[in-house]
Amino acid sequence: MKLSATTLTASLLVTVIAVLLIIPMMLQWERPPMESTQLGFRGLGMDKITNPRLAEKVKAANPLPTPDDPVPNDGVLVKDDKENYKNVQVLGDLDTAQFNRLMGAITLWVAPQEGDNASCAYCHNVENMASDEIYTKVVARRMLQMTRAINTQYKSHVAETGVTCYTCHRGQPVPANVWATNPGPKQAGGMAASRDGQNLAGQPVPAFSSLPYDPFTTLLNKPAEVIRVQATTALPGGTGSDIKATEKTYALMMHMSTALGQNCTFCHNTRAFSNWEQSRPQRVTAWHGIQMVRDINSTYIGSLTDVFPANRKGPEGDVYKTNCATCHNGVNKPLYGFSMAKSYPELSVPNP
Ligand code: HEC
Ligand code: HEC
Ligand code: HEC
Ligand code: HEC
Repeated sequence: MKLSATTLTASLLVTVIAVLLIIPMMLQWERPPMESTQLGFRGLGMDKITNPRLAEKVKAANPLPTPDDPVPNDGVLVKDDKENYKNVQVLGDLDTAQFNRLMGAITLWVAPQEGDNASCAYCHNVENMASDEIYTKVVARRMLQMTRAINTQYKSHVAETGVTCYTCHRGQPVPANVWATNPGPKQAGGMAASRDGQNLAGQPVPAFSSLPYDPFTTLLNKPAEVIRVQATTALPGGTGSDIKATEKTYALMMHMSTALGQNCTFCHNTRAFSNWEQSRPQRVTAWHGIQMVRDINSTYIGSLTDVFPANRKGPEGDVYKTNCATCHNGVNKPLYGFSMAKSYPELSVPNP
């Protein structure tokens, strides 16, 4: 067959367009090298796939903080110095030197780092430090209790690494990764009135799939629904697993994977998702993490609903709360396992 000039030009054009399309796609997609690490018994496909380029980005987003130098004790407990400490309800057992060091640290961890509020004045009326008139001080007191509860009651999750205010806040008054009940966009009425939190592609929480975009309200808060896909009985009704539970479970799992920067096989043997014997120990740690997050959100943050101003609440009027990404921020251990809590032992004792 003879090629006419037109056919030639046309095929050339198609080739050029194809090349022009493919090059930017290749830049967008994860191009090699990919590294794979075996996580489970050989032959099970339990591998961790990492891309060194993306790992660098995650590292840059998780800078390691420098704890303050230790200071010697003053030899006076806060509760014994009623002159200077009139309204201390949580930190009374601290030496006054440690108390002041901690106040300096939480100012750096939580107060805005620029502008008029970048100081003690973010929480205090500096004319009267004992006053609770600024809401941020009331919130901070509850957060102190919460941090201590995490470090003492949830060692099954945070181990000896523990957390400080920095783990979540990272120099910001509102941590970067928070959630509030998401009603989704407004919809037409009648039969179409509710999409039950799903079928909306482009939502980041379920990794841009059309799975429910708010698995948190019912799964990471109290009272909590069951996280389940596989029923344990032949007939429905036994274990509370239904299609809704299934979809929310998968949405939450997507979040957990993204939050930790890991595949499903970081916790599961994917031939038997529900089977604990075949899962990795990390799944047990994650289970305790789920219980901890529910407690943080309901017992501590949720109890502050009346304290927060409207601009610190979501569209449904609930406070912004935590999920796995609040501490983890893309890493399997927050801040790569760096223990800042060790330098602030007063945050790892039980509440009075
Ligand atoms: C993020 C909020 C926050 C910031 C910022 C902050 N504080 Fe505090 N401060 C508190 C809380 C909460 C208490 C009460 C602790 C308690 O009840 O155990 C407190 C109590 C105090 C008290 C005791 C006052 C009294 O008489 O009861 C002093 C003194 C104090 N802070 C000093 C400082 C100094 C100095 C700074 C700045 C370097 C500072 N604080 C920054 C939250 C904050
Ligand atoms: C587990 C994560 C977590 C930890 C740990 C944590 N916080 Fe928070 N904190 C939050 C979340 C989430 C909010 C946002 C609530 C909102 O805005 O509705 C918040 C809000 C606050 C606010 C109010 C900020 C504002 O401008 O409205 C203060 C003050 C605060 N935290 C202080 C502290 C202090 C002090 C500590 C350490 C003793 C601490 N937090 C530890 C999650 C955390
Ligand atoms: C960080 C650990 C972790 C990761 C990563 C993870 N899961 Fe899970 N998964 C769990 C835990 C823990 C449970 C059990 C929750 C419970 O029982 O309350 C669970 C439960 C499940 C269940 C329900 C099993 C049953 O009994 O019905 C399925 C299905 C599941 N995960 C799928 C996935 C998929 C798919 C991914 C990847 C997108 C994934 N998981 C990623 C920890 C993890
Ligand atoms: C309050 C902060 C905080 C929150 C919120 C949090 N974690 Fe963690 N998590 C930690 C800390 C700290 C560690 C490190 C413990 C250690 O050093 O062994 C950890 C460790 C883990 C590990 C073990 C990682 C490994 O490499 O062995 C898993 C799995 C995990 N978290 C899952 C979760 C999941 C899933 C959620 C959400 C349901 C969650 N975490 C929420 C603080 C948190």
